[in-house]
Amino acid sequence: MALDYALEPGLLKEILIDEATLQARIRELGAQLSGDYADSENLLLVAVLKGSVIFLTDLMRQLTVPHAIDFMAVTSYGVHARQSSGTVRIDMDLKQNIEGRSILIVEDIIDSGVTLSYIVKLLSARNPAQIKICALLSKPSRRKVDLHVDYVGFEIPDKFVFGYGLDLDELYRNLPFIGVVDAEKYL
Ligand code: IMP
Ligand code: MG
Repeated sequence: MALDYALEPGLLKEILIDEATLQARIRELGAQLSGDYADSENLLLVAVLKGSVIFLTDLMRQLTVPHAIDFMAVTSYGVHARQSSGTVRIDMDLKQNIEGRSILIVEDIIDSGVTLSYIVKLLSARNPAQIKICALLSKPSRRKVDLHVDYVGFEIPDKFVFGYGLDLDELYRNLPFIGVVDAEKYL
């Protein structure tokens, strides 16, 4: 039975990626990652809170290789709340030692790339065996820094999206689809 989500009227302009499409792509990513990491020991999925938690929990259940998970939280400040500034602050660091481990950073969305390039630089200094990035969504047209993303679920246009982990002022992370905000009514 479909849940009746209580969304503010007019907030959702369109559904960009529906639940079935998301889940099918996550199954594909899971199969690809399971192959690519078949021989790797000590795999650690690093999820960036909070947006990536829904993606993480669905993705890890598609992995057939042993792995641990850990979390970090960062804030990136901007004049406008919907953009990152270039200044990134660590609010919560990893609990686990990553030296010699294979790290897969699991991220909800890459926009300018500033947040992730900062995280990659920070984690690289701790001497992991390898760092790769898996992002559910990417907005290539918005990139400000050169960042190699190893696995991308979907490339999307420059629109502000929410749902499936991504929030609108902390709400609606539970929606099972990726929706586009009606900018005239909300942003
Ligand atoms: P970046 O540093 O510009 O790549 O910003 C990445 C972060 O900005 C993501 O982890 C999200 O928290 C946030 N973000 C960027 N675009 C969107 C969007 O369309 N919806 C929700 N959050 C977004
Ligand atoms: Mg995020």
